[in-house]
Amino acid sequence: MKSQQKCIVIFALVCCFAVLVALIFSAVDIWGEDEDGITEDNCSRDCSFQPAARQGRALLSRLQGLKAKGIQLKISSGMIDSTELSTLAKHNAEVHYVNMTALTKGHLLSSFWVVDRKHFYIGSASMDWRSLATRKELGVLVYNCSCLALDLHRVFSLYWGLQYKDFIPSFWSKRLFALFNRDTPLQLTLNSTKAQAYVSTSPEVLIPKDRSNDLEAISRVVQEARHFIYISIIDYLPLLSRNANRYWSRIDGLIREALILRKVRVRLLISCWEKTHPLTFNFIWSLRSLCMDQANCSLEAKFFNPRVQRDGSLQGINHNRFIVTERAIYLGELIDYTL
Ligand SMILES: *[C@@H]1O[C@H](CO)[C@@H](O)[C@H](O)[C@H]1NC(C)=O
Ligand SMILES: *[C@@H]1O[C@H](CO)[C@@H](O)[C@H](O)[C@H]1NC(C)=O
Ligand SMILES: *[C@@H]1O[C@H](CO)[C@@H](O)[C@H](O)[C@H]1NC(C)=O
Ligand SMILES: *[C@@H]1O[C@H](CO)[C@@H](O)[C@H](O)[C@H]1NC(C)=O
Ligand SMILES: *[C@@H]1O[C@H](CO)[C@@H](O)[C@H](O)[C@H]1NC(C)=O
Repeated sequence: MKSQQKCIVIFALVCCFAVLVALIFSAVDIWGEDEDGITEDNCSRDCSFQPAARQGRALLSRLQGLKAKGIQLKISSGMIDSTELSTLAKHNAEVHYVNMTALTKGHLLSSFWVVDRKHFYIGSASMDWRSLATRKELGVLVYNCSCLALDLHRVFSLYWGLQYKDFIPSFWSKRLFALFNRDTPLQLTLNSTKAQAYVSTSPEVLIPKDRSNDLEAISRVVQEARHFIYISIIDYLPLLSRNANRYWSRIDGLIREALILRKVRVRLLISCWEKTHPLTFNFIWSLRSLCMDQANCSLEAKFFNPRVQRDGSLQGINHNRFIVTERAIYLGELIDYTL
């Protein structure tokens, strides 16, 4: 009983500190911008209200109109109770349900769109209005890039083929094999700048021949950094799962190496909300204390506090996940235990 109380006190302290950290950062580091053209005296009080879900609804209605234009819409999803998806299904979209619970005891977190095997969107936004209206999302839209679109389409075909399957196939069609990977990336030009790219996926059991997995991709991005690594994620929690607390140190270890051995500057953006595991702060402190009294060792972390709306929903959750270094970008689904 006593240790339980102590535990609660410690957790409470951790929580208080978390709020403090966030406040201190927001008080000191953000200076604001010039407000020329408008002052407190002549600013407008006659405001109009735009429903926040407008963007999502506009998108939904555009998607509903695709059939009439002769455009086929296929959706692979792990959600069974989505009103948006049922609406689209009624408007002739083909929706395939992938039961990740049965396949890997996991969730389908990938989110990407492929258009005409030529253009694609890849990013954190999911197919519900909350995503577009209330969360911090990030993604890229790439036009005229059929090589990569084709490869992404193969990932889609794999999910598409998993509809209602409750076992993982032991043979994959050749048409699902990756076209590019970590060792043979696509050489492309992005607005005339030379670049390399490939698509990675996870988990391992759902990866046909030649595709790199996410961990390999993340490892390479972190290991090749020489100057900085900026990471935006929902949770920083090097544990295997929230309940079975097994330490999973692969990425945490790579970050420590970058900090200590290569003196790479690391910055983390993390969500801080009711579901944030209290150990998050311990792991961040542990990283911070690594740098104590070390020349050229720099780790900074900032926490986002989403606002709680009147209906209990959260506004401004940091739902995006990406890593930027001086030479690479990793965009997509990082380890994420909550959403
Ligand atoms: C508001 O006042 C500032 C300073 O007097 C002026 O420069 C600006 O043009 C005004 N803006 C509007 C919208 O009236
Ligand atoms: C998904 O698979 C799980 C485990 O096999 C099963 O309990 C559940 O009913 C399945 N869900 C659907 C919607 O088929
Ligand atoms: C894509 O390529 C086509 C044909 O080369 C060109 O007409 C079009 O403007 C390009 N689209 C974008 C967004 O660059
Ligand atoms: C890349 O090219 C597209 C199409 O020409 C243009 O709209 C976009 O602003 C360019 N992006 C950058 C970063 O220059
Ligand atoms: C830290 O960085 C500065 C500037 O890059 C360099 O001059 C100095 O030698 C570095 N110190 C250590 C201990 O690496």
